[in-house]
Amino acid sequence: MLSLLLEREDAFLSGEEISRRLNCSRTAIWKHIKELRKEGYQIEARPKSGYRLVYRPDRVAPEELKPHLRTRSFGRRMQYQECVPSTQLLAHEWAKEGAEEGSLVITEEQTDGKGRMNRIWHSPPHSGIWMSLVLRPPIPVTEAPQLTLMASVAVTRTLRRETGLDVTIKWPNDLLVGGKKICGILTELRGEQDRVQYVVLGIGINVNVTPDFLPKELESIATSLAIEGGRTFQRPLLIAAILKELEEVYEGYLDHGFEPIRILWEEAAGMLGRIITAQTPEGPRRGEAVGLASSGALLLKTEEGTLPVYSSDIQI
Ligand code: BTN
Repeated sequence: MLSLLLEREDAFLSGEEISRRLNCSRTAIWKHIKELRKEGYQIEARPKSGYRLVYRPDRVAPEELKPHLRTRSFGRRMQYQECVPSTQLLAHEWAKEGAEEGSLVITEEQTDGKGRMNRIWHSPPHSGIWMSLVLRPPIPVTEAPQLTLMASVAVTRTLRRETGLDVTIKWPNDLLVGGKKICGILTELRGEQDRVQYVVLGIGINVNVTPDFLPKELESIATSLAIEGGRTFQRPLLIAAILKELEEVYEGYLDHGFEPIRILWEEAAGMLGRIITAQTPEGPRRGEAVGLASSGALLLKTEEGTLPVYSSDIQI
């Protein structure tokens, strides 16, 4: 029903046509109209003319997303709910049950969103992109961190193109605008005998989050595309563009390995040449960020030589 109304844009669609195309009764049409209204769609019903969509709420439901999808497999199978604890958890469950590569879990709101290192990921309703993608790359577990970098490159390229904002990458998984975080990427995997069985790639983007929805403690370190761009963005369009770019970069990674991604990452990173402090399990290490190793580790030039940094918090 929604697809038909969207197809007609702001013209009227007669009850008779709906009835014929959906093969349903007038009573069923009315029931669906009431359901759509409950979800926030404003539909004008006029005797003799039929139905017309006058307002669509900002939703990332499959009906809103699918018309924009240009991918082969990413997002073609989708689970959507208005509110979930965390899309990561649902994607893990789905992957364990055999979800195919490219299966997507997406929501409007998370009540228990997860960040790296067990941090909370703040996910207010209808204002961000909170999604998890199931991948099944035929790679060893040791190479899985490369996927976070691969995803950072794909999302950065898309956001730059679609928003015109100067998005940069902070190793390993933060995307920043003006030094503040707008996106975080969380890669979790299940391995079997050193091979990756599946990966859940979680992407969180503050799209239309307004300052009053950012907790006080995040004000100085987080921002959103809308705050930085001075306008709101249509989430379904952004999601479709991200999935398309991600699928292309991922296929390139599977065909040609990490080297092309490494080069793209170095181009997109906003931290090369900067002096940083990395909190490593062996204590803080200070030096100049000089590049990315083929393993995906950050290369830090220190007084003791150039060190690879594998897992740490970085202060620029
Ligand atoms: C980080 O920067 O620490 C990573 C944040 C990842 C957040 C996303 S939102 C969608 C998916 N579901 C979650 O619970 N987390 C990821």
